[in-house]
Amino acid sequence: MLRVLAVASAALGPRAAGQVRTMASYQLLVPPPEVLRKPLSVPKRLLLGPGPSNLAPRVVAAGSLQMIGHMHKEMFQIMDDIKEGIKYVFQTKNPLTLAISGSGHSALEAALINVLEPGDSFLVGTNGIWGLRAADIGERIGARVHPMNKDPGGYYTLQEVEEGLAQHKPTLLFLTHGESSSGVLQPLDGYGELCHRYNCLLLVDSVASLGGTPIYMDQQEIDILYTGSQKVLNSPPGTSLISFSDKARNKIYSRKTKPCSFYLDMKWLAKFWDCGDKPRSYHHTTPVISLFSLRESLAIIAEEGLENSWKKHQEATTYLQGRLQELGLQLFVKDPALRLPTVTTVAIPAGYDWKDIVSYLMDHFNIEITGGLGPSVGKVLRIGLLGCNATRENVDLVVNALKEALQRCPRNKL
Ligand SMILES: Cc1ncc(COP(=O)(O)O)c(C=O)c1O
Repeated sequence: MLRVLAVASAALGPRAAGQVRTMASYQLLVPPPEVLRKPLSVPKRLLLGPGPSNLAPRVVAAGSLQMIGHMHKEMFQIMDDIKEGIKYVFQTKNPLTLAISGSGHSALEAALINVLEPGDSFLVGTNGIWGLRAADIGERIGARVHPMNKDPGGYYTLQEVEEGLAQHKPTLLFLTHGESSSGVLQPLDGYGELCHRYNCLLLVDSVASLGGTPIYMDQQEIDILYTGSQKVLNSPPGTSLISFSDKARNKIYSRKTKPCSFYLDMKWLAKFWDCGDKPRSYHHTTPVISLFSLRESLAIIAEEGLENSWKKHQEATTYLQGRLQELGLQLFVKDPALRLPTVTTVAIPAGYDWKDIVSYLMDHFNIEITGGLGPSVGKVLRIGLLGCNATRENVDLVVNALKEALQRCPRNKL
């Protein structure tokens, strides 16, 4: 036995004896990667997919400012400014309004894990990928999830929602305002009031719509609203914006169980973002530079005026849709009133492989458009005009590129 231990100890050397090793005795097993010797290189692209969009030049400048600490008083002021900007773009006076350190999905998770408790009934509009994602997260929480299934392109009438509310008596209803996978704009007037009559909270995803089309959180009685930084706001991906009504806040503060994530625990975040709960205290290290960018993008839209931003998107997208139809292309959403003014979906023209068209634009024009997502894959092409990208010049560029792609890409005539 002793002999076995002695052999093992000799093989391990100083580690077995717990001795301190000298620097010279360390040997790297993984060498420095060759690829990192090359300088970072990023192509210049026109991002006309459903997001991310190009950064506004002022946002790029804000993102190259000096680092400061996440707990410095100047940073707290920036966080306060961001809260005011979110209240403006959401048209809300909710005190519980803040930015999450994470992309749109983290705002969705923050909403669901804070509001739902295991066993709660959760009604979900699953007319595209975002509702499917919400349903998935609801299941992980242990909620009783009731999907209202529809094919991509569908939306929910007040009557359909009322039937779901009456049947399932949910705590929470999820709807996607701008269904970016299908290009549908879900109407929102009357839905909040209807939910409240049934003692249900209304959660709305506005990641692809906010800033591009009207939404009035307080007036439309939306209880939880979130969006992302990388669409109309032309900021880098990685932060999201969220707000909770007093009703939603009360639900969070009267929970029987702790939410299953510390990182997204709204009580902690509310303290950190100084949303009424004193004292302000550390929760996590925020992405300081991304918050500079977000503040700048909120400043830009505040200067431009929300109404002007809505008008700009509607005009550019109407122009795009007209030009696409002139090319003989079919818009996927038939009813013009239900077409999203930020992301347009085009039925894939007969005989083409959508991947050829998308690649043609990327390879020959450095323009990004995309195919469908989730249930709309193989059904649509998606073109986004988001924030500073919503211009007639960009429409002309993408339509001319598409025209050429349709002439050059292989077409199955059968
Ligand atoms: C409507 C909608 N909701 C949610 C998301 C998810 O956001 P993220 O990719 O920032 O997590 C997206 C992203 O495209 C979206 O378009």
